[in-house]
Amino acid sequence: MHILSTNQFTKSEVDAILLRSGEMEKSLRDPKTATLLSGKIVASIFFEPSTRTRLSFETAAIRLGADIISAENAMGNSSAFKGETIEDTARMLSCYSDAIVMRHPTFGSVEKAASVTKTPIINAGDGANQHPSQGLLDLYTILKEEGRLENLTIGFVGDILNSRTLRSLVPLLILYPNNKFYFVSPKELVLAKEYREYLKKNNVNFEEKNNLEDILPKLDVLYMTRVQKERFLNIAEYEKVKDSFILKINDVKKLKDTAIILHPLPRVNEIDHEIDSDKRAAYFRQAQNGLYVRMSLLLTVFDL
Ligand code: CP
Repeated sequence: MHILSTNQFTKSEVDAILLRSGEMEKSLRDPKTATLLSGKIVASIFFEPSTRTRLSFETAAIRLGADIISAENAMGNSSAFKGETIEDTARMLSCYSDAIVMRHPTFGSVEKAASVTKTPIINAGDGANQHPSQGLLDLYTILKEEGRLENLTIGFVGDILNSRTLRSLVPLLILYPNNKFYFVSPKELVLAKEYREYLKKNNVNFEEKNNLEDILPKLDVLYMTRVQKERFLNIAEYEKVKDSFILKINDVKKLKDTAIILHPLPRVNEIDHEIDSDKRAAYFRQAQNGLYVRMSLLLTVFDL
């Protein structure tokens, strides 16, 4: 199976991935874990920069006993530079590997790659569309930190328009009852029209805001996002909105004691560094969880 979007999963499939993620966390260094993917080769190809996703997928594969072939900076260092299509690239990788982890800047491109091969492809982020392993690691983090996935109030803040992490996490959280969403952004970065329609069609309980202050005390999860410079065609437009929402220690004082602050990372300046030592700052624990969830996803694509 390919993993292209969080929309593809049923609740029982998501629950199984979370359960297996917990097992991976507990058995990370067990000798048996290190044999689960013995003899398999995982290809990782990234046409966009990455620290967490690429290195944690590669670590996950190694922890499970697989070998890795890797193309980073693939836009310049693979034959895409010479004009090879994403479909032909996928055909080639499927000749050499048993599973492919792929990131690309273009919305829908990983699905195109997956359309030409039966070798499982995991979407590691395609433009502003989807980043399913991020959505699942966010969900795993919320479950670990809050102890539940229902009756939550979640505030996404920042670049709501371009956030593939939002588009990946929301479809997962709506599998569970009574979750409420706030989307907080400057007017230039509000939800895309088609995505607003999707949320309404699916009876998602959400409100759009351009002010953070009022909602802070209501939140169980404050999900900060980076304004994504690489998605802007005009740098002046980016400069205008880049500092719209910067979380300060005084904001954190308004959060519930039990709330958590998430961020997919990398952060630029949208969370003050002095917040890092607050127990509610869960973003580095969130990134760590990515390893266990990606181990679980590799096992899933191999039907193990
Ligand atoms: N969150 C995330 O996708 O980080 P990277 O871009 O570093 O992989």
